[in-house]
Amino acid sequence: MSLDVAILGGAGLVGQVFIKMLDAHPTFRVKVVTGSRSAGKIYGRHVEWKIWGDMPEYVRGMEVAPTEYRYLKDVDLIFSALPSEEAKKIESYLVSRGMRVITNASTHRLDPDVPLIVPEVNASHLEAVIERYQDGFIVANPNCSTIILSLFLKPIYDEYGLDEVHVVTMQAVSGAGYPGNPSMEVMGNILPFIPREEEKLERETLKIFGEYKDGVFTNAVFRVKAQANRVPVIYGHTESILLRTSKEVEDLEELKKILLGFHGPPQEMGLHSAPGNPIHVVDGPRPQPRFDAFREKGMAVSVGRLKVYGDGWISAVIHGNNLVRGAAGGTILIAEYLTKALG
Ligand SMILES: NC(=O)c1ccc[n+]([C@@H]2O[C@H](COP(=O)([O-])OP(=O)(O)OC[C@H]3O[C@@H](n4cnc5c(N)ncnc54)[C@H](OP(=O)(O)O)[C@@H]3O)[C@@H](O)[C@H]2O)c1
Repeated sequence: MSLDVAILGGAGLVGQVFIKMLDAHPTFRVKVVTGSRSAGKIYGRHVEWKIWGDMPEYVRGMEVAPTEYRYLKDVDLIFSALPSEEAKKIESYLVSRGMRVITNASTHRLDPDVPLIVPEVNASHLEAVIERYQDGFIVANPNCSTIILSLFLKPIYDEYGLDEVHVVTMQAVSGAGYPGNPSMEVMGNILPFIPREEEKLERETLKIFGEYKDGVFTNAVFRVKAQANRVPVIYGHTESILLRTSKEVEDLEELKKILLGFHGPPQEMGLHSAPGNPIHVVDGPRPQPRFDAFREKGMAVSVGRLKVYGDGWISAVIHGNNLVRGAAGGTILIAEYLTKALG
């Protein structure tokens, strides 16, 4: 099967990762790229390439379209990398016209009819949109730090249950988009606050681990407390975690085995962008952004510094690529799952 797709906000950081990951994709062909300041311009001439590698050939000659229904009506699926404020108006309108939108923006993540998906964790929630596929819908990709955290928590949750999770993030500057924070703010410095980030981690995680039944999403009941920091790193978010499981964890070896053996529907279905192993357990003073941000092309999460304290307490440092796994790659994986599930 081949589907025509559009990328909204294709000149931004997440938009560029979409463009890169969809180069020669087996299912999705990029037919439309939209922008705001770049609208009406030729992508290869006017858009500055800001991520790793080169601008793919296929996009160089494309004219960037304004984000309007008339330019989008013929595509099968829309990938949105719009800023949240823009997404609020535009995405809802597109759905009202019967379009299918998978978005990175935070605007609709907690809406009662929007599935918030990490395919290895809660692909079953996509039932909500499979039921009304022809009518148009929004599926949301969660916050980047939340995706990385959820992948780590999933095998632990399934095996032991969770009572509470405390997470302190150290987030890359690319997480704020381009140009993001001024260099005077971030170089040689740490910013101990990222607007709305802590609430996203605390709320979204519970929706992801909750249930979808009879048309209703119900939150999971464990506690999540988050503190978010911006650090002078370009790619990859690191998270320092202390958590308590409901059932005692036997020992470190058992925990490592459970993390290493973790697979979900994307691996079982052999989806194109799925990492072979969603979790990599790393030894020594790892994970580190410099070494671990691009494991399995940025789709795998690295877990290190694991400690088992007894009485259900565990600590770890985890790391994942905010632009790939936390944004465009996660969104493409949702689309691959949906396409395969629909046959
Ligand atoms: N960066 C991350 O790690 C990350 C992770 C997860 C989720 N997200 C979310 O993903 C979205 C994009 O983030 P980003 O980091 O790529 O931001 P960014 O680098 O600031 O890019 C945003 C892009 O949106 C475009 N835009 C603004 N208004 C538009 C409109 N009306 N129509 C079409 N395009 C429009 C701009 O296009 P022009 O250049 O043409 O003006 C700009 O290039 C945000 O909602 C963000 O919260 C980001």
